Amino acid sequence: MQGERGTWSPSKSTLEKAQTVIDATASSSELYRNGFGMIASENIISPMVRKIVGSDLHGRYAEGLPGKRYYQGCGDFDTIESLGIEMAKKVFNAPFANIQSTSGTVSNIGALKALAQPGDKITAVSTADGGHISHARMGAVGLRDLDLSTYPWDEDRMEPDIEGACALIRDVEPKVALVGQSVFLFPTPLREIADAAHEVGAKVMYDGAHVLGLIAGGCFQDPLREGADIMTGSSHKTFPGPQGGFLLSSSEETSFHRRLNTAIFPGVVSSYHLHHVAGKVVALAEFEEYGSAYAHDTVRNAQAFASSLAAQGFDVLAESRGYTASHQVLTRHGDTDSGAGAKAAQLLEEAGIITNMNMLPGDTKALTPSGLRLGVQELTRVGMGPSEMEAVAELYARVLIKHEDPQRVKKDVAELKSHHHVIRYCFNDEQTTGYPF
Ligand SMILES: Cc1ncc(COP(=O)(O)O)c(C=O)c1O
Repeated sequence: MQGERGTWSPSKSTLEKAQTVIDATASSSELYRNGFGMIASENIISPMVRKIVGSDLHGRYAEGLPGKRYYQGCGDFDTIESLGIEMAKKVFNAPFANIQSTSGTVSNIGALKALAQPGDKITAVSTADGGHISHARMGAVGLRDLDLSTYPWDEDRMEPDIEGACALIRDVEPKVALVGQSVFLFPTPLREIADAAHEVGAKVMYDGAHVLGLIAGGCFQDPLREGADIMTGSSHKTFPGPQGGFLLSSSEETSFHRRLNTAIFPGVVSSYHLHHVAGKVVALAEFEEYGSAYAHDTVRNAQAFASSLAAQGFDVLAESRGYTASHQVLTRHGDTDSGAGAKAAQLLEEAGIITNMNMLPGDTKALTPSGLRLGVQELTRVGMGPSEMEAVAELYARVLIKHEDPQRVKKDVAELKSHHHVIRYCFNDEQTTGYPF
């Protein structure tokens, strides 16, 4: 039926499609409200960040840099982005920061555009050893048509075999020595790698997507002072902001800064999601206040969770190194390539515990791996501490060791979680819960 311009009543079928989305979104919020979000790359945003992300900035454009725009109407956003650049430099202790990238992957594509030409050589951690797909031929490295060699891997220490990695760099003489992983338990021995890389004229690129918040919080490693020329990262993992990316550099050279800025815009973004950039700036302000405590509590919780899992009888990797120095814990659930990790992840989801299966050393197939990669950064953010980590490990054991009905365990998961709905480590003015809809 025709009404005022653009206001007629919708047909039942179009409304139903929108309702399907609304129902599924509400259901997803409930899943995480009542369960444990333990995927190591995820987090929840603070009430103030959520407000900004839902603002009118969502629909706006601002190509270029503050003060040098191609569109009118950017004055207020210039204020936001200028403040954000200065805050990112401070929080990450970096002479250069670009906050425009829309994800960690986009930061990596931009960085590789700035640092290498098609056909150039690059060294990185292989995806089988925990490197990210953007470090591989199938991802950004391939997109830039780079010639990839992967470092040998030390399975006991869960880091690049340092002598082998340095020898590879000296032999291959790459343009870029890329380090950092998606499976990231321990700091990379960066000084040795950076020495070898700089000796052959390579730039060192540290992918801190997962551990950016731990780095900024001062409890993982300090790549920009250990020899990394640039550091990329996501703004929504251990750095608990909205989805997006950062590109940072230790260089003081303004010509290099220009190269990095140009690689992001016009290199890999046009509109760069102003609502998320503004959200990142609020998250940077929150991080300045609470980031160090959050990072330290996260690592302490990961260590407590790993020890509790081991005490329950789980095979937790890297025991000789204290299991973990990050937000992640790795567990093995069966033989190599057996798919035991996939089965464990499925059973845990039935109990309201959301994780991801992961390849462990020796696995060769991504869809039938033997392990799980677990992250405690989200449970930490809703106020869980070491005693809750022990309780969470017990719930894992009830599902995976004692083989209790997951539906029964799910009730106890929801009970424990019901005490942890409020987000901490942020400007929590309204005590809003972390799972609104
Ligand atoms: C090491 C690493 N780099 C980059 C990325 C990509 O980040 P994003 O999901 O923000 O694109 C990830 C994702 O988890 C990652 O683990």
